[in-house]
Amino acid sequence: MVDSPEGGLSGSRVVVTGAGGGIGAALARAFAARGARVVVNDLDTAKAEAVAAEIGGTAVPGDASTTVTEARDALGGTVDVYCANAGLGSPGTEAADEEVWASAWDVNVMAHVRAARALLPDWLDRGSGRFVSTVSAAGLLTMVGAAPYSVTKHGAYAFAEWLSLTYRHRGIKVHAICPQGVRTDMLTSAGSAGDLVLAPTAIDPEDVADALLAGIAEDRFLILPHPEVAAYYQARAAEPGRWIAGMNKLQQKWEAFPA
Ligand SMILES: NC(=O)c1ccc[n+]([C@@H]2O[C@H](COP(=O)([O-])OP(=O)(O)OC[C@H]3O[C@@H](n4cnc5c(N)ncnc54)[C@H](O)[C@@H]3O)[C@@H](O)[C@H]2O)c1
Repeated sequence: MVDSPEGGLSGSRVVVTGAGGGIGAALARAFAARGARVVVNDLDTAKAEAVAAEIGGTAVPGDASTTVTEARDALGGTVDVYCANAGLGSPGTEAADEEVWASAWDVNVMAHVRAARALLPDWLDRGSGRFVSTVSAAGLLTMVGAAPYSVTKHGAYAFAEWLSLTYRHRGIKVHAICPQGVRTDMLTSAGSAGDLVLAPTAIDPEDVADALLAGIAEDRFLILPHPEVAAYYQARAAEPGRWIAGMNKLQQKWEAFPA
């Protein structure tokens, strides 16, 4: 993991968006514990400042889409690792409001695109840079009851994959983290679908951070904090119709599940 001039995470300059709580805070803590200099971004200023103070980092509050310039300044001119982690749970069907679809697209996909646009010129000049996308298992599979979330997380996964295959030979590393349930505020607010589908196998945010660090050490693109997701993903690719029939059974179970 060659991210810093010293050749490790120690001293590397890291940005984590949506790091005021949940998975982002766990990523920020894990990088800081390994000696990285961390910029903590969150829309919620107080949360960003609290996590930054705890880990000796720098808070850069605001929308994740607009972090790169300010974060780069705070880190002395360069970002080594950028974690596009901020996300919206965005439940609903095709009937969800236009605003729900638009905000899901903006935060779950376009924030990643805008960050990459701002980061890539410097990274390609230097021949190094690491982009970490917190996607979701919903980006590989799907999430019942959450069309905007499932669709935009597929977009986030596609963008991470595209970045990696386009720039890998130019020194750019990309990781897509695809967990199922993680015990955070987002899971708490996911309602009965979260209770039925995600809560029984939920893990802690620190487990996601551990999985990312292991994936960085092994230079793995796809980070699966729930290893069983690999088999589901294979099953979907091998027999899409059968997989959809199975997911439809889950949908029916959810419809009968107490709200
Ligand atoms: N919790 C889960 O079960 C789960 C599972 C798979 C993937 N994920 C993904 O992990 C990521 C983090 O989610 P979490 O579970 O930690 O959620 P969370 O709600 O606990 O934390 C998300 C943080 O992002 C911040 N945020 C929201 N919009 C923002 C924006 N535009 N700019 C900056 N900050 C913003 C929020 O204020 C919040 O502090 C998301 O991308 C989510 O989709 C979560």
